Amino acid sequence: MKTTVVILAAGFGTRMRSKQVKVLHRAGGLPLVEHVTRASKAVAEPERTIVVTGHQADDVERALAGNGVSFVRQGPPQGTGHALAACRERAAGFDGLLMVLLGDAPLLTAQTLLQLRDTQAASNRAATLLTTTLPDPSGYGRVIVNPAGDVTAIVEHKVCTPQQREIRVINSGIYCFQAKLLWDHIAKIQPNPISNEYYLTDMFEILTGLGHRIGEMHIPDSNELLGINTRVELAQADRVLRDRKRRSLMLAGVTLEQPETITIDMDVEVGQDTVVEPFARLLGTTKIGDDCRVGAGAILDGAILGNNAAVHAYTLVSNSSIASGAEVGPFSRLRMNSAVEADGRIGNFVELKNTQFGAGSKSQHLAYLGDSTVGAGANIGAGTITCNYDGVAKHPTHIGAGAFVGSNSTLVAPVTIGDDSYIAAGSVITEEVPPEALALGRARQTLKHEWAKRRKQQHGKKH
Ligand code: UD1
Ligand code: CA
Repeated sequence: MKTTVVILAAGFGTRMRSKQVKVLHRAGGLPLVEHVTRASKAVAEPERTIVVTGHQADDVERALAGNGVSFVRQGPPQGTGHALAACRERAAGFDGLLMVLLGDAPLLTAQTLLQLRDTQAASNRAATLLTTTLPDPSGYGRVIVNPAGDVTAIVEHKVCTPQQREIRVINSGIYCFQAKLLWDHIAKIQPNPISNEYYLTDMFEILTGLGHRIGEMHIPDSNELLGINTRVELAQADRVLRDRKRRSLMLAGVTLEQPETITIDMDVEVGQDTVVEPFARLLGTTKIGDDCRVGAGAILDGAILGNNAAVHAYTLVSNSSIASGAEVGPFSRLRMNSAVEADGRIGNFVELKNTQFGAGSKSQHLAYLGDSTVGAGANIGAGTITCNYDGVAKHPTHIGAGAFVGSNSTLVAPVTIGDDSYIAAGSVITEEVPPEALALGRARQTLKHEWAKRRKQQHGKKH
């Protein structure tokens, strides 16, 4: 039986106290709603996945653009029942099962969705809802069950009687319906007399009243059903997602030292036998090879590391790559498409911006290389600075293979330093240096012999 998925993501999320719509807040490095669209792939093809948008619809649709899902705009949101009803026309042609997911419940796993689908498909019930038991159920709809074990109603927290508030079995907001039954009767939902919203949860009483039966699938891991309403719950979801990610990497052969201190986004890949030290952050689409080391407190965002590469402590790498055998840090910064080629060495307080740094080359201390290319086997002395910006435009610097740039050299771009040439320490280089030349761009030293002695005599000092 085919399944259609509708993900409700139109609500604003007032309890987040944010200017941004709730489903775009991030946990595990991804917008909440993206976790849900990813999980939905287990049960529905993208053509059969509809995301209901409303508040900041353009932003939500843009964030999900790569996921192949389609969108229905709810108009001003008037409750979950109203949101689902907005899909009626679009989904009417899709028979089979209709699964409703919430854009603010990001911890749901593909496994649980498959189980929910199979449970509903094997039953003759009108719908199955996912439920769990919470120690503190406040905020959630409570599940009312008859003696036969069928669900007869969901009562929202706001409208619960004191007795109903005692119920700790909660509605996750995630359901699987017989699609036709749902679409035939969804228009019967009336606005709630207290909140004036259309509650999708009223559907269960409606279907029960028509003689249909509703089942529940109770899951023991209540974490999975966490709905995010506040930033406290957002932090909780983030913890769960990152814990899952770390576990899966460790089980795949990655060593994480003090794993609870390491932050890893969902899409990060790490190879076998790589060691990650405490407080490292691996973000975005970072991809790390086998046998690498990531030092304490290093931050890698969109970084690519070949096998056997090392990023030492407190180094920042963003959108840059470090090839096999290369070492960077401690306290280095690589950014904007920089690349350190095989066995290169970048040391403390060296910054590379948009710079290709050749194989086996070294820049061990205190340098800035911007908009540059450095050939293989070059040596960049401490304090070397490329002056790549003249206040109007950026200019390139080319340093040839095997070049030796002496300490504290200032390379005024655009400028080319030839292969195997030498730059004397302290030079200001403004003109091209041919291959194998020595360039001296500094004032000559002058010496005044016995100057200090004369000075002492003048001032009548003994020492
Ligand atoms: C809902 C359920 C509640 C359940 C809880 C689980 C209803 C009436 N209540 O409550 O029983 O325990 O989820 O987390 O369904 N949305 C829209 N359009 C709207 C309103 C909401 O798309 O007009 C979307 C929101 O963006 C959100 C989701 O629906 O992603 C849930 O909405 P929310 O207001 O958070 O519902 P709850 O009050 O948490
Ligand atoms: Ca919610």
